[in-house]
Amino acid sequence: MNAEISHDSIRAVLWRGDRLRLLDQRKLPFAEDYIDCMSADEVARAIRDLVVRGAPAIGISAAWGVVLAGQSGGAALAAAMPVLRAARPTAVNLMWALDRMQRRVAEGADVSALEREAQAIQDEDLAANRHMGELGAALLGKKVGVMTHCNTGSLATAGFGTALGVIRAGSSSGQIVRVFAGETRPWLQGARLTMWELMRDGIPATLVGDSAAAHLMKSGQVQWVIVGADRIAANGDVANKIGTYQLAIVARHHGVKFMVVAPASTVDMATASGNDIEIEMRDPAELLAHSGQRTVVEGALAWNPVFDVTPAALIDAIVTERGVIEMPDASRMQMLFA
Ligand code: MRU
Repeated sequence: MNAEISHDSIRAVLWRGDRLRLLDQRKLPFAEDYIDCMSADEVARAIRDLVVRGAPAIGISAAWGVVLAGQSGGAALAAAMPVLRAARPTAVNLMWALDRMQRRVAEGADVSALEREAQAIQDEDLAANRHMGELGAALLGKKVGVMTHCNTGSLATAGFGTALGVIRAGSSSGQIVRVFAGETRPWLQGARLTMWELMRDGIPATLVGDSAAAHLMKSGQVQWVIVGADRIAANGDVANKIGTYQLAIVARHHGVKFMVVAPASTVDMATASGNDIEIEMRDPAELLAHSGQRTVVEGALAWNPVFDVTPAALIDAIVTERGVIEMPDASRMQMLFA
């Protein structure tokens, strides 16, 4: 077993033949509980409620949701598509996976053909992540410090991860000597999930508050910010977890390089620019309480967009399994994603 594969022990989306088993990411890191989804509706609810999250993982889960609907017959299948599609709006992997399953349905695929398609979506994602790990690590240089945001690891994908895959590969090769993870308020994907993945796979990492990013980059300990994406527009603008945009601004100010790592299923050439990407708004209650405990005075308002858009001009490299796009813009995107 090579070093990269040993840094890859977590699987969050598990097909069990008649049910989809999901590692409940709301409970990590202190409980490793799984929930079983028996229908497409249950899969849609699990996506909406963040049992499963991360752009590729929700696409893969939705594909399995279509298989579950297929097992219940044609009417269930037709009903499932819009329910799954509406589960979350920003990550295009969800729509991409459903379109792919829909094409099979339209060709008259039976349930076992649908199952093969969902498995292919899952397997291709894992292979893409391994390949992107190598491509991204090749850009890093020697003995660098990196910062990441949110969770882009095995939990957010079929396995290995996108940005976290590059961090796994670069740590294995000795190129990365320091990893900082931003906590990612309000849902704490960085603190709860990324730190758990890195500790579990033996990669030393340091948690920082989201508001420590500028001070950290000024200190010279970070040479690359490496993040994932929920949707990449045709001009190279990137929607990702809220807070990504401010990291890109701070990185540029301090001469820190900014890398986005995402599979082709995250690229949406039908969306011209980041301005056209729908940004999910979640319940303000997520900001008004912490661990179920109210932290803000009753009656206070909160604004809770959970993604933002980083303009292409602030990005040094977009890494996909098809290749690397340096200094992305519309024409460079077109060269790989015509
Ligand atoms: O709200 P989440 O946790 O689903 O948001 C996840 C992110 O923003 C990730 O960075 C993105 O989906 C890429 S995951 C490989």
